[in-house]
Amino acid sequence: MNTKKERIQQLKEEKNAVILAHYYAPPEVQEVADYIGDSFCLSKLAVQLTNPVLVFCGVSFMGESAKLLNPEKTVLMPDATADCPMAHMVDKAVIDAAREQYEDLAVVCYINSTAQIKSWSDVCVTSANAVKIVRNLPNKNILFIPDRNLGHFVAEQVPEKHFFYNEGYCPRHEFMSADEVRELKEAHPQAQVLVHPECNGQILDLADYIGSTSGIINYAGEHTECSEFIIGTVSGVVYKLSEKRPDARFYFPKTRPSCPDMEQITLDQVIHVLTTGENEVAMPPEALAQQAEQALSNMLKLAK
Ligand code: 13P
Ligand code: SF4
Repeated sequence: MNTKKERIQQLKEEKNAVILAHYYAPPEVQEVADYIGDSFCLSKLAVQLTNPVLVFCGVSFMGESAKLLNPEKTVLMPDATADCPMAHMVDKAVIDAAREQYEDLAVVCYINSTAQIKSWSDVCVTSANAVKIVRNLPNKNILFIPDRNLGHFVAEQVPEKHFFYNEGYCPRHEFMSADEVRELKEAHPQAQVLVHPECNGQILDLADYIGSTSGIINYAGEHTECSEFIIGTVSGVVYKLSEKRPDARFYFPKTRPSCPDMEQITLDQVIHVLTTGENEVAMPPEALAQQAEQALSNMLKLAK
């Protein structure tokens, strides 16, 4: 009897498929993935890889972005219901009103968004490249959607621009509590605080480092002088953190942040989609897909 891991290996070879997983996916899923990464790394990989089938162990905006950038590839989602609530938190009226008011407005869209929202935007960004991209845009006026926390973080790094925000947020990061981080700091005074920019401002104020999931993982990997870290992002990152720094300790706020949509992905679902080809990401309607793809391609160009 094959183990699930062996079965997945066999199916991958049969279908010439590759498995991509976000750092928030469950450990056993990260273990079978060919590539694990943050949203930026995964979207670049989706373009570079030549395999005709991509199995995307993440939420729907990730699979959708991979499909938009690779219309000819088959993108399979092990769990078709895994979605990101923030990806829907934009009202088109906010964009229309801002465009009307400012001629030189750039609508900058966090990749955590639906294809439709991307299609209303000028350029996509991820938490790993947002500062660089916004800084290099010729536009002075920036509407940042959907995440207000990431928008405020970028605005602080790029004070020469004029920002407008949209009231979207990630429920997992927004409701992490600064008091819990303070308690951890008191209990572990030597620990450095590494947080994701989707966290609320009170948490960002307590941070030694603010960055994407890969930024957090790399920071802990490089700062070997420190062996205790307080982590302000979804606890799925601990799989990679522990691999990079087996000697270190990682503390999460008491209300351990989890992304239920990512965490519900299972090996059985990976086997199922590889076997049946079900849950294939559909290409959105042509005009919408073209505009959304343009915003994603602009990101890949400007991030170089
Ligand atoms: P990254 O850009 O770090 O991958 O973060 C994605 C995400 O969904 C964070 O909640
Ligand atoms: Fe969306 Fe938040 Fe989950 Fe990231 S952690 S995918 S932003 S719900």
